[in-house]
Amino acid sequence: MRVLISGAGIAGPSLAWFLAKAGARVTTVEKAQTLLPHGQNVDIQGSARTVIRKMGLVDEVLKFNTTEKGTQLIDPKGRPFAPFPVRQGASRSFTSEFEILRADLAAVFYNATKDHPNVTYLFGTTIKEVISNDEDSVKVELSTGEIQTYDLLVLSDGQWSKLRKQCFPPEAVKVVDKDMFAVYWTIPRIPSDNDWWNLYAALGRRVVSLRPDPYGTIRAMFTRMPLNEAHRQEWLTAARSDRKTQETLLRKEFTDAGWQSQRLLDSIATAPDFYFQPMQQIKMTKWSTGRIVCLGDTAYAPTPLTGMGTSLAINGAYVLAGELSKLDSSEHPSKAFEAYETIFRPFVEEKQQIPSLLPGFVHPDTARHRWLISTFASALSKIVRTPWLVDTLARIVFDESEEEDFPLPKYPAFDEGVEASDPNTQQKKTATD
Ligand SMILES: Cc1cc2nc3c(=O)[nH]c(=O)nc-3n(C[C@H](O)[C@H](O)[C@H](O)COP(=O)(O)OP(=O)(O)OC[C@H]3O[C@@H](n4cnc5c(N)ncnc54)[C@H](O)[C@@H]3O)c2cc1C
Ligand SMILES: *[C@@H]1O[C@H](CO)[C@@H](O)[C@H](O)[C@H]1NC(C)=O
Ligand SMILES: *[C@@H]1O[C@H](CO)[C@@H](O)[C@H](O)[C@H]1NC(C)=O
Ligand SMILES: *[C@@H]1O[C@H](CO)[C@@H](O)[C@H](O)[C@H]1NC(C)=O
Repeated sequence: MRVLISGAGIAGPSLAWFLAKAGARVTTVEKAQTLLPHGQNVDIQGSARTVIRKMGLVDEVLKFNTTEKGTQLIDPKGRPFAPFPVRQGASRSFTSEFEILRADLAAVFYNATKDHPNVTYLFGTTIKEVISNDEDSVKVELSTGEIQTYDLLVLSDGQWSKLRKQCFPPEAVKVVDKDMFAVYWTIPRIPSDNDWWNLYAALGRRVVSLRPDPYGTIRAMFTRMPLNEAHRQEWLTAARSDRKTQETLLRKEFTDAGWQSQRLLDSIATAPDFYFQPMQQIKMTKWSTGRIVCLGDTAYAPTPLTGMGTSLAINGAYVLAGELSKLDSSEHPSKAFEAYETIFRPFVEEKQQIPSLLPGFVHPDTARHRWLISTFASALSKIVRTPWLVDTLARIVFDESEEEDFPLPKYPAFDEGVEASDPNTQQKKTATD
């Protein structure tokens, strides 16, 4: 089976890993010249950890943990309060030990596949055009001018995939705006920085955040909820515009935000990475057409508000590769695409639900609202530091007893003897017995 993958983010390389294991030949094209350094902490939740265990990459992922001690709020005088320390083994504390920088996770998957004899990465390359997608094959023209034929094409080039537009009619793709924007970049660390995720709720629906990384630098973030429709359009226009326009908008809107906003604004111009993201979900009526299938954010971006983008990409890659591994050579890949969607769509739909009041709650507009959050967070923080209460609450609120949030199907191509040697599952078993 010859597979072409578009996009070497999280979904693409994890799919390549499983497909190569199942004996396929995989070519991945990536638009960027090298792996992108952008992005901040991503969480790996529930079953996605089991998938990484099956790949034998748990130690690699833990090695690249973000070293964050936990989360705390900052008051208007710049003093920290309401700490939420990392809980060992917890899946849903605000910071978990399975938290890793997006770029490091992409590199873990890339490193684990790049030397495989049947996997090829072409950086600085895109698919210019899908020439045909028919009964026998899918034919493409690459940006290099080469014309090539594959058995199937996987679109994992992210939320704003241009190829998706080429391959699916507009009515098949719904973009759901979540009325919030996030901007991320990296800044030099100074002596007064610490190893916590520090969150400051500026008024006017703005949040300023600083968190450590394992490289001795600090990851800065602004988030913003627009105040009205015209304001929202202004931000959406900036999102589609260049970095200069985005910087100007941030300067206009965060200069008076307080705490370390000025330091952050001053550091944007020289930041090596800068990523401006409207919180928008992708929902497709169907994830595949003929021999072309969508995976990860391309098919079902949930937004960072859910903390599930990475886990959906990883679980999805496992199911798609698993279903493809079950085909015999005469079968059309659409059979596997249908099965992938049937098995995985209910989980995706569940995880795309965001409590509609949550973003607004953490972006206070007025001083009274901020006081309410602070009081609530302080109380919660005290509870969270009472271990037995937390464990009980975690079980009730987050259903944490359920280590596997998505029931992973077993595939003969991937599943010999992995479970038996899994220390975490065993630990979990003894704990619940
Ligand atoms: C630069 C960046 C920073 C991010 N930062 C965060 C973050 O801080 N927090 C968070 O929760 N989520 C972040 N995300 C989103 C997160 O990576 C995804 O939600 C999730 O991991 C699913 O990944 P994915 O592989 O489906 O898509 P992505 O991670 O978006 O990967 C898509 C890949 O496709 C490449 N690509 C795009 N267009 C083409 C093309 N035409 N041809 C070939 N390749 C193409 C991109 O360069 C990228 O490498 C970020 C995504 C990106 C791209
Ligand atoms: C997390 O990273 C730090 C340093 O980067 C390392 O010392 C530590 O062992 C890592 N934690 C785990 C659980 O591997
Ligand atoms: C990937 O490999 C490169 C080169 O060997 C190495 O420098 C880098 O640290 C590795 N990254 C991860 C996340 O494994
Ligand atoms: C590479 O693919 C070929 C089939 O195309 C297969 O015979 C071979 O075993 C694969 N190599 C590895 C290391 O999986």
